[in-house]
Amino acid sequence: MNIILLGPPGAGKGTQADRLVKERGMKQLSTGDMLRAAVKAGTPTGLKAKAVMDAGQLVSDEIVSGIIGDALDAMPADQGAIFDGYPRTQAQAVSLDEILSARGRKLDHVIELVVDEDKLVERIVGRYTCANCGAGYHDTFKQPKVAGTCDVCGHHEFKRRPDDNEETVRTRMAEYRAKTQPILPYYEAKGLVAKVDGMADIDHVGAAIDAILGDK
Ligand code: AP5
Repeated sequence: MNIILLGPPGAGKGTQADRLVKERGMKQLSTGDMLRAAVKAGTPTGLKAKAVMDAGQLVSDEIVSGIIGDALDAMPADQGAIFDGYPRTQAQAVSLDEILSARGRKLDHVIELVVDEDKLVERIVGRYTCANCGAGYHDTFKQPKVAGTCDVCGHHEFKRRPDDNEETVRTRMAEYRAKTQPILPYYEAKGLVAKVDGMADIDHVGAAIDAILGDK
């Protein structure tokens, strides 16, 4: 099964993808995570992407579609893919169709996480991850069980994303409204879109997604 999780910054795409990976053995393909890894490694792609990402704007379609094709090629052909943060433009949506069909895959669902943008700023500005294993936390919604200690690996250092400040988040949301939301009709015309209330708590959002995807 191949699915897209679509929604603005902070809608919960990464949170739900993480759960689907653990519960269904699917592979999360997050263009944001892959670009951040390229920035950290100092690759040519990372060098091109860094300033654009720090400003909250979109990296070029060619770069991200190339990354997605390479990531699919590195996966077993029978493993399901969760597209998290891709596609983000009409050109990327068209590229994804070509990329999937060239690999004998098809898209099964586009899950739109419907959220109240005003409340997303709090979600994003409050989130942080373990600097060692990447486990996600939030100042208000998901703190470690023992303060200052990662639940997963016991590490004591945490980090925040450079683009998770309020000003950049507002730019990312404007980019979503201008370039990503307009691709929904493309998928609605194919009968692929299901809407989920992304403002419900994390478990309820997960249950709603499970109801759409069917048996594990
Ligand atoms: P990317 O990394 O994709 O960031 P984003 O889309 O802005 O999404 P986020 O990761 O910020 O949010 P999310 O929806 O995953 O929310 P999360 O689950 O973490 O992209 C970053 C940048 O890379 C872009 O700006 C762009 O420059 C570039 N880029 C990436 N892909 C690109 C592409 N295809 N084309 C061009 N450029 C691209 O949740 C947020 C917080 O809320 C967490 O703390 C979580 O615990 C909490 N939370 C989640 N769900 C709930 C809930 N239901 N209730 C309460 N709290 C919740």
